[in-house]
Amino acid sequence: MTNRKLYPATGGLRGNLQVPGDKSISHRAVIFSAMANGTSKITNFLTGEDCMRTVEAFRQFGVDIEQDRGTLTVQGKGVEGLSAPTQPINFGNSGTTARLMSGVLAGLPFFTTAYGDESLSKRPMDRVVNPLREMGATVIGREDGSYLPLAFQGSPLQAMRHELKVRSAQVKSCLLLAGLFAEGETTIIEKGVTRDHTEKLLPQFGVELTVNGPTISIKGGQELKASDIRVPGDISSAAFFLVAAAITPGSELTINNVGLNETRNGIVQALEQMGAKISSHVHTYVGDEPVGDVTIKYGQLEAITLEGDLIPNVIDEIPILALAASQAQGTTVIKDAKELRVKETDRIAAVVDTLTTLGANVEAKEDGMVIHGSQSLQGGSIDSYGDHRIGMMGAVASLISHEPVVIQDKDCINISYPTFFDHLAQLQNKKTS
Ligand code: S3P
Repeated sequence: MTNRKLYPATGGLRGNLQVPGDKSISHRAVIFSAMANGTSKITNFLTGEDCMRTVEAFRQFGVDIEQDRGTLTVQGKGVEGLSAPTQPINFGNSGTTARLMSGVLAGLPFFTTAYGDESLSKRPMDRVVNPLREMGATVIGREDGSYLPLAFQGSPLQAMRHELKVRSAQVKSCLLLAGLFAEGETTIIEKGVTRDHTEKLLPQFGVELTVNGPTISIKGGQELKASDIRVPGDISSAAFFLVAAAITPGSELTINNVGLNETRNGIVQALEQMGAKISSHVHTYVGDEPVGDVTIKYGQLEAITLEGDLIPNVIDEIPILALAASQAQGTTVIKDAKELRVKETDRIAAVVDTLTTLGANVEAKEDGMVIHGSQSLQGGSIDSYGDHRIGMMGAVASLISHEPVVIQDKDCINISYPTFFDHLAQLQNKKTS
C-alpha cells in the first residue's frame, strides 16, 4: 500500500484541463464493439483499472483488442464469434463491469465464472441476478446469487416486461444487454431517470431501441455493427477539479471537452445552486452525447439541500460535493442517497469519517449526511478505504487544509483517474514527483 503526502496549496488552480475519457461510456464502448461484427476504433478510452477489466473480460472471450495508450482497436466477430473462457473472469473493483457483463454472460451459450475483489464481493448482485433469472437465465452464486463469485450457464432467454426495483443505470443496462439475446421484445421501466449512455450508444452500433419516457424496449436477436467512438471527458473526474477550484482562493480553470449529458451534469447544477462562479456550454456532439467546456472560479459557496431527482445525477460526485459543502456557509443536507451505502465502500460512513478526521463537522444519516459549514480543515492522515473517489476527495481537501494530508493507499485512484496527481500538479504549476 503506497501513501501520498499532499501539501496545502500556495496559490489557486489555474489553466485548462482535459480529463480522461468517461468511465461509463468507455465500458459501454468496449462491450458493444466486442459484441459487434467488424473493427471498431475507440479513442480517448479510459485506461483506468475498471475499464481495463472489461477489456480483459472480452480478451478472455477471444476478442482481439489492441491498445495504444487511449486508443483501442477492437476486432469484433459478433456474439457468435465469442468463445468460452477457460479461466474465471476477474471483475476486479468494477461494479459496472460486473453488472453489465452479467447481462451478456447470461445470454452467451456457454459456462462462465466470475469474481471480484474484496470490495466488489460485498456489493449486491441480486439486483441483476433476480431479473435475469426471470428471463430464464441460469445463474448460481454466493448467498443464492446475491454476491460474487457467480457462475453463468448461458441458456435461451425470454423477453420480459420489467419494472426496475432499484434506480440504477447498471441494472437497466444489464437487462437491455440480456434483452439483445432474448426471444421477443424486452421492456424495462425505470423508477426515475438514470444515466442513459446505453440508450444513446447502442443505436450507433445499429441497434434499434425505443425510449418513451421511463420505458425502454429492445428486440432480441439484433446484430451489432462496428462503429468508431470518441469518448468524451469524464464529468465525474472533472468534478474533483471543479470543486478544487471552487474552494481554493485564486483559482480559475476550464475543463475542456467534457461530457455534459443531462443525466450526468448534476455537479454543474449543484455547484450553481451553491452560488459557485461556474458556466458551461456544449460545443459538439459525439454521437448523441453532448460535449463542452466548463469554467469555474473561486468564490464563497452557500449551503444547499441535495435530494430527489438530482441524487442519481450526482451519485458519484457526492463525496466531493460533501467537501465543497464543508466550505459553504450554512448547513447542507444530503438525503435520498442510500445507494451510497453500497458503492465501492459505504460512502456515507467513509465521507463522514474522512471529513471528520480532517476537521470538518459532518453527521451521517441513514440516507445521506448533514454538513455544517464553513469549517477550516486541519489536515491529517486519511484512509482511502481503497475507494478512488474517497482518495481524490482527500487529495482535494489537502489544498485548503492547514497541515498536509496523507492519503493511505493512494493507488486506488488508478481505478478511474490514473493521471490525477499529474493533473493536480499541472494546475498548480508544479512539477510532478
Ligand atoms: C454507472 C452507474 C452508477 C454509477 C457507476 C457507473 C454506469 O451506478 O454509480 O459509477 O456506468 O452505469 P448505479 O447504476 O448502481 O447507480
